[in-house]
Amino acid sequence: MVDVRRVSHNFGTHWALKDVSLSLEKGGFLFLTGPSGAGKTTLLRLLYGSLPLTRGAAEVAGFQLKGLKKTRLPQLRRQVSVVFQDFRVLPDRTVAENVALPLEVRGEKRRTIDRRVNAVLRSLNLSSKSRCLCAELSGGEQQRVAIARSIVVNPKLLLADEPTGNLDLDLAMHLMDVFKQFHTFGTTIILATHNREIVRSVPHARRLELADGQVVGEAQAGEWGPVCDIAPQEDPVC
Ligand SMILES: Nc1ncnc2c1ncn2[C@@H]1O[C@H](COP(=O)(O)OP(=O)(O)OP(=O)(O)O)[C@@H](O)[C@H]1O
Ligand SMILES: [Mg+2]
Repeated sequence: MVDVRRVSHNFGTHWALKDVSLSLEKGGFLFLTGPSGAGKTTLLRLLYGSLPLTRGAAEVAGFQLKGLKKTRLPQLRRQVSVVFQDFRVLPDRTVAENVALPLEVRGEKRRTIDRRVNAVLRSLNLSSKSRCLCAELSGGEQQRVAIARSIVVNPKLLLADEPTGNLDLDLAMHLMDVFKQFHTFGTTIILATHNREIVRSVPHARRLELADGQVVGEAQAGEWGPVCDIAPQEDPVC
């Protein structure tokens, strides 16, 4: 589903990613960890096609990202959903309208849209806020709207950037149950997080640790220990 080969990315003179490789099979679950500034968001933005891939090669959901024309981005984004670190919900639309948007773009029927929006809002404990404007919501509620909007389309690949950053642990764990449910139904997931409890909540997941733009640790299911030994970071995951 995701194959990244020796990718580097610079912002001016600063190299945010240096020679990063990763491969994730269809149906896999990968945590992206590492301290602030490690390059997690940059990597997710490249995979979503919101930054151009200039060095190295990457294939995502069957799309070669190098040289991918802007006109093909909507096709890529039919397969790939993203939860941005800064939410990006539309403040002047209601919760239900925000969540319905990607289904409307795909031309789904009104009845299907309503059914799926209601189901996703229920699973994220947002039903009571359905008619509220997003501008009236707390940060944690906006974050859940962003998550609802990304999963409502049943994406093949879900990229989630610190999706539990503004939530208390109970809510974060509930949210992880929702992600795990989607994963069980076949969605491939890459989730960036600083949170040790979140990483522990999916013991069968893989983990890739970045620091200063480089891969400094990698672990398969149930092998968290050695990664911490190889790469002791300030990251609380270790
Ligand atoms: N648009 C940008 N312009 C210039 N530099 C950037 C830009 N985006 C990121 N960077 C730099 O690239 C590096 C990696 O940033 P990135 O946002 O990918 O880190 P991160 O691992 O997601 O951090 P955090 O955990 O704080 O979200 C940082 O040094 C950052 O300052
Ligand atoms: Mg980030």
